[in-house]
Amino acid sequence: MSKTTSRGGPGGQRPPGVRSLVLALVLLFTLWACGKNEAPPPPSTGVNITQETGPGKRGPSHAPGDHAGEPSDAQRIFMTVCATCHGIDGTGTGPAAESLNPKPRNYTDAQWQASVTDDDIREIIVKGGQAMKKSAMMPANPNLKDDTATLDGLVQIIRGFSKKP
Ligand code: HEC
Repeated sequence: MSKTTSRGGPGGQRPPGVRSLVLALVLLFTLWACGKNEAPPPPSTGVNITQETGPGKRGPSHAPGDHAGEPSDAQRIFMTVCATCHGIDGTGTGPAAESLNPKPRNYTDAQWQASVTDDDIREIIVKGGQAMKKSAMMPANPNLKDDTATLDGLVQIIRGFSKKP
């Protein structure tokens, strides 16, 4: 009856200190390797591409009949106001003309162009259709009464439509 007590030997157990050291070394190596692979960002040159926009040929031009450059007041008014009824091509087929009766005149009509004077055109623009015994849908523009430059410009625009084929 003998009992053999064999306390499990320290089979292959290494002192913990060595293990930690190896781990630490591996970790250090990994960190070092990673750090090496990470290339530093290229130095930015900091070049800004700036476009210089010169003043160009722009300039105020309000002279009536000046067809080059910026639109005159008359051109702006015609395109934004009058063209809604009279059409940008002067044929009287603007988007608002559909519901009008009578319809606005076709400015390209040579016969009509010949039948009116510049003063007639100026007068109806200022006084409106009703005052001229025409359609009240043609609005009056009393603010243009003394603005001869704009009035003349509008007359020229209306006259200009006749030249188009
Ligand atoms: C709301 C629609 C409308 C707008 C906006 C309008 N018109 Fe008219 N215009 C008419 C109608 C409709 C007539 C036709 C009147 C008639 O024949 O009874 C007319 C007639 C005219 C006539 C006379 C043509 C003729 O038969 O002798 C001139 C000139 C004219 N318009 C210029 C202009 C100008 C310039 C503008 C902008 C400042 C303008 N109109 C804005 C609707 C408009």
